[in-house]
Amino acid sequence: MSHKERIYELRELLHKHNYNYYIKNAPEISDIEFDTLMRELQELEALHPELDDENSPTRRVGSDLTKEFTQVAHKYPMLSLGNTYSKAEVADFYDRVKRSLNEDFEICCELKFDGTSISLTYENGKLIRAVTRGDGEKGDDVTANVKTIRTIPLVLSGEGYPDSFEIRGEILMPWEVFDELNAERARQGEQLFANPRNAASGTIKLQDSAVVAKRRLDAFLYYMLGEELPADGHYENLQRAAKWGFKISDTTKKCTTLEEIYEFIDYFDSARKELPYATDGVVLKVNSIRQQRNLGYTSKSPRWAIAYKFQAERALTRLNEVTYQVGRTGVVTPVANLDPVQLSGTVVKRASLHNADIIEKLDLYIGDMVYVEKGGEIIPKITGVDVDARFLLGEKVKFATKCPVCGAPLMRSQGEAAHYCSNEVDCPPQIKGRIEHFVSRDAMNIDSIGPETVELLFSSGLIKNIADLYTLEANDLLLLPRMGIKSAENIINSVRESLSVPFERVLFALGIRFVGATVAKRLARTFVTIDNLMNADVETLVATDEIGERIAGSVVDFFNKDSNRELIARLKTAGLKFTLDKEVVENKTEKLKGKSIVISGVFEKHSRDEYKEMIERNGGKNVGSVSKSTSFILAGANMGPSKLEKAQKLGVALVGEDEFLLMLE
Ligand code: IVH
Repeated sequence: MSHKERIYELRELLHKHNYNYYIKNAPEISDIEFDTLMRELQELEALHPELDDENSPTRRVGSDLTKEFTQVAHKYPMLSLGNTYSKAEVADFYDRVKRSLNEDFEICCELKFDGTSISLTYENGKLIRAVTRGDGEKGDDVTANVKTIRTIPLVLSGEGYPDSFEIRGEILMPWEVFDELNAERARQGEQLFANPRNAASGTIKLQDSAVVAKRRLDAFLYYMLGEELPADGHYENLQRAAKWGFKISDTTKKCTTLEEIYEFIDYFDSARKELPYATDGVVLKVNSIRQQRNLGYTSKSPRWAIAYKFQAERALTRLNEVTYQVGRTGVVTPVANLDPVQLSGTVVKRASLHNADIIEKLDLYIGDMVYVEKGGEIIPKITGVDVDARFLLGEKVKFATKCPVCGAPLMRSQGEAAHYCSNEVDCPPQIKGRIEHFVSRDAMNIDSIGPETVELLFSSGLIKNIADLYTLEANDLLLLPRMGIKSAENIINSVRESLSVPFERVLFALGIRFVGATVAKRLARTFVTIDNLMNADVETLVATDEIGERIAGSVVDFFNKDSNRELIARLKTAGLKFTLDKEVVENKTEKLKGKSIVISGVFEKHSRDEYKEMIERNGGKNVGSVSKSTSFILAGANMGPSKLEKAQKLGVALVGEDEFLLMLE
């Protein structure tokens, strides 16, 4: 089989297995087998850039850095739907349709997914463009990001799809992914996403599609448009689309009577709470496309469809007290303590008041009757006050001025909603938070120390900061409750193993505000040693790619503090890595690992010696003569005729100078 045939075969296989795994939930091969096929394809594609295909399954990993999005006009405008909030309004819609059509009709009932809408264009079975709603007339071209979503087919399977069509749907972030993402953001001191909708729309607009790929977005498609759709029924078209590889919700139902529609609404008003993704209502659509055309559009929305929005669940209860919680990053969050009240199946006693501005806006008094809602948000929140129920005015709620744990004054940076405890060094929840972040998997990966052990170590006085971890001894640990020899040894061993963690992760582990894993990597690669970084001023820092003033300011502040300088000195003595590994500095990679490469001909961009050095630096071997085991020939102009002939005979590929440089990028 030729390289070309194998590449095509692998692409088809991987598309199929992707579909089995992500859409059908019925994988036929193991993850390892999948990865092996993927790696084979990646390697073959790297060697044969001439067979490049932007819809190859390898493109899902996401790599190209988009600087800004291009705006694209929608072929068909992206309209919104009229909203209704009661069954009476649904009945009005139903009657209007009935009167206008004056013939039998079906209503397709669907869930209203709470994400961000997307329009996908397919031509000849290939995804060619993905555009956000934008202003309805034109949107942002986010194709590179959308290609990372595994449930969106890059190449269609099956048959009967139109040569050209658009399909629209909702990009979602499943609850599970959302919770993980927010937990991670909390660890890094970043602002949390309020709900999965914001998280999905924020993610799809990120500049780096590799980060998008990690966020595990999902998508349901719910609307097909085009001149040559397979059927007259909206529902039937979507069923066909499911066969081409699209993820279509199986909750959709065709109804004919108003009672059936109400049944659908009632069922999902409660069943939605068990779904793995957020929904905020039901969408009702006249099923026949001919009838849709007859009904037409108003200036803003179709007359053939409406949305019914679920009631956000709300309860009225009394506000007894406002207390404050200090998070790991020092953010102080006000919490309303309430008379217990039933809300969506649980008893709520506490609700978030978010920040000082929100308290101010609500104009709260202790003893007020307040509305509590559990929307798409993480914790219940107070959304209003029943002013009429205010008889005896209690004390006005004023935001705290001191940290409830350590008593230090609170501060608020300009333009920020949150208050912080100013006692970064000694405030217990902040210390524990920093240690938890330090030992976490993506940081120092000290997996024998979880949050409970951190609590134990801290409250017993064994550690007061991250540097103390490196002077711990097994004997000290044995004094702790529930600590056996085995666990104590595990802790000591994994602390020792963390000494080999590379500099960029150590830098991330320090927990500098706004320095996440990616920023840490960038800083480590630019500054190479911690001393260079410690001595850099804001100006030098902002000259680094992707580092803005906010990050630069935070880095400088961090290293200006004596306590942090002292900490780093102690960590250095303990033996942590504060210099970039030699391989990284020298730009060494394994991109050409296992490859035997012959260099032949004359080159323009680099000398032969430079190419030889590049091959070796990237893990390849430079060999003199062409043989069966030659991986490819790095071929310049005027390549020797005998080498050329031999290469052709043995089927060894020729790779030009530009292609070779691309491989190493
Ligand atoms: S159909 C012309 N179906 O709700 C009809 N929209 O206000 C186009 N949405 O922007 C939309 N689930 O983002 C449709 N099953 C569904 C939907 C849905 C969620 C969103 C979509 C749209 C908004 C309408």
